[in-house]
Amino acid sequence: MRATLAAATLWGLATAASAQQEIKLGYALAPTSHYGVAAARWQEFVEAESEGRYAFRHFPSSGLGGEREVIEGVQLGTVETTIVSSGTLSNFVPEAGVFDIPFLFRDLGHARRVLDGPVGQEILKKFDDVGLVAIAWGEQGFRHITNNRNAIETPADISGLKLRTMENPTHITAFETLGAAPTPMAWPEVIGALEQGTIDGQENPLSVITSAKLSEVQTYLTLSGHVYSPTVFLVSRPFWDGLSEEDREIFRKGATEAVAAMRAFVDGVESSGVEQLKAEGMTVGELSKEQKAAFQGALETAYEQYYGTYGKDLVDRIIATE
Ligand code: PAF
Repeated sequence: MRATLAAATLWGLATAASAQQEIKLGYALAPTSHYGVAAARWQEFVEAESEGRYAFRHFPSSGLGGEREVIEGVQLGTVETTIVSSGTLSNFVPEAGVFDIPFLFRDLGHARRVLDGPVGQEILKKFDDVGLVAIAWGEQGFRHITNNRNAIETPADISGLKLRTMENPTHITAFETLGAAPTPMAWPEVIGALEQGTIDGQENPLSVITSAKLSEVQTYLTLSGHVYSPTVFLVSRPFWDGLSEEDREIFRKGATEAVAAMRAFVDGVESSGVEQLKAEGMTVGELSKEQKAAFQGALETAYEQYYGTYGKDLVDRIIATE
C-alpha cells in the first residue's frame, strides 16, 4: 500500500515538473538594469499567477546575441520572449521607426501617452504580420550622446564624429544629415569598439549609460535628448498560439506590471544618473532649448524623408497627442 502511495506521489511530481514550461527571456543589459528589473517583474507575475506552470529563464547581457538575432529567434520560436529596444525593430515592422524620429516627443509623459494610446497600439498590432506578438511598449528614456573627442554644443561639433548608432535607418539618416559619421553596430560589439577607438562615441539613454558603465570608456556626455528610446515586449507566435486565452491574459497583465517597473527605473535614473556619471568622471554638458532648436533646424531635410516614409499625418497625430 505504502509503495503504491509513494509511486503515485512520484508520478504526481513528475507530471507537475513536465507540465512546467520554460520561458526563455533574452535582453541586452545586466539583471540590475531597467531590462532586468522589468524581466524580473514579468517573471514574478506570470509564475505566481500561473501557479508555477511557467518558469522564466533569463538570458541577460546579450546572452542570446544582439537584438536582431534575438528577435529572429523569437520569430522562429526558438526563444519565447524578449524585451528589446527600437534598434532593429523597423527592419521587421517599418512603421515602428516613426518613434525614432528625432525631437518628436516633448517629454517622457508625452511618449508614454502616445505608446499606450491608439497610435502605439496600432503599431503593436502590425507585428502580427511578421510572426511576432508585441504585447506592450516599455522604455529606456531619451537618448544622449557620449564620446571621447570633444564636448558638443552645436551640430558642427559632431562633424565627422565616428558615432555608433543602432542598426536603425531613422537614426542613421539623422546623424548623416548632421554631418557625423554614423557607424551602425550591434550592441555586443560597442564597448570593445569604444575601448579600441574604432568609434569615438555612441548614443543611449542614461539608463543604459549608467547600467553599461560607459563612464569607464567615454569622457564627454552631452544631454542632447535627441530621440526617445522605446522598448517592446515580444512573444513568439508559435508559443502564443499554444496558450489558452486565460494564460495570454496573465502574460499581458504581467507585461503591464513590468512596463510600470521599467518606467519607474527610468524615472529614477533620470533624476540621479547625471550626478552619478559626473562622480564617475564624465564631463557633462546639456543642450539648451536654443541649441536643440539648432539641431532640429539642421535636420530639415531628414524630416522631409521621414514624412515620406511614415506619412506626415501619422507624425502630426503623435505631435498632437496631449
Ligand atoms: O543602443 C542599443 O543598441 C540599445 O539601446 C541597447 C543598449 C541594446 C539596449 O536595448
